[in-house]
Amino acid sequence: MAFPEVRMRRLRKTEALRRLVRETTLTIDDLVMPLFIVPGHGVVNPVKRMPGVSQLSVDQAVEECRRIADLGIPAVILFGIPQYKDATGSSAWREDGVVQEATRAIKSAVPALAVITDVCLCEYTNHGHCGVVVGDDVDNDATLELLAKEAVSHARAGADVVAPSDMMDGRVVAIREALDAEGFEHVPILSYAAKFASAFYGPFREAAQSTPSFGDRRTYQMDPANGNEALREVELDLEEGADIVMVKPASFYLDIVWRVKETFACPVAAYQVSGEYAMIQSLIQAGAVDEKRAIMESLVAIRRAGADFVLTYFATRVAPWLRDVAS
Ligand code: PBG
Repeated sequence: MAFPEVRMRRLRKTEALRRLVRETTLTIDDLVMPLFIVPGHGVVNPVKRMPGVSQLSVDQAVEECRRIADLGIPAVILFGIPQYKDATGSSAWREDGVVQEATRAIKSAVPALAVITDVCLCEYTNHGHCGVVVGDDVDNDATLELLAKEAVSHARAGADVVAPSDMMDGRVVAIREALDAEGFEHVPILSYAAKFASAFYGPFREAAQSTPSFGDRRTYQMDPANGNEALREVELDLEEGADIVMVKPASFYLDIVWRVKETFACPVAAYQVSGEYAMIQSLIQAGAVDEKRAIMESLVAIRRAGADFVLTYFATRVAPWLRDVAS
């Protein structure tokens, strides 16, 4: 049968019908809110290129987390901007580091909220690279031990999940072994498995003060042109013990999200990164798109591609809309 018997528009006639045949849902359960933690007290430092996002000191982050939990959002991911940076990023595994302090404070104030910690060195090194620099290269194997120390210190502070974002080879197994050796065998690893060398991390690097002082990240992050390689990265991370794999960025890489889910049927996360946020946010501020529809469309698309959940700076904005779906 075909037109005129078949009319696709019949099921689009009313919102009630559209709801009945809607294939993809976005719920509060699918959201993770990223937070930038800075030293100090009472600090709320707006990030210039990410309107609506601020760097927060630990006390402010705790208040924000109470609000996040009240909204029903299940998790936050923490990024730390330390007081001191050095060549190895040693502030990354300090017991009194910003992320460690924030994790302890959030877990004690809002225990039900899951705290995911970003495990990487770029925010902590004075050169801004995600590992130990030897000559003009990032030394893979020397970095593993440092990432493992950082992950263990996050677990010790009470992190529910650790999320390595450095893209060194072998970091998942190195972190798994270190966690297990310290009695943290129940702490899952959310691996940034297919992380691309994207221009769209620009606003984040301003927020996290992690722009490389020389070169770029193309010797460790993936070439945006590669899809098969992403599957290989995911396969290796799963073999090494990753519990959840992430694709990042999200919107320009929906084919990767789809292929990863189809191939491995494992838990898949996607990161709607700072540049995606800033892009949508500029359209909203220019009055060019409807805020709610644009944000919802961007997130539903990521879910439709196969992501189980989305790390997004819009989490706190969409949560109230999702609570009242009939509105
Ligand atoms: C750290 C890290 C980055 C992001 C998350 N973890 C930046 C980078 O790799 O340069 C980007 C997040 C965003 O853009 O929102 N390695």
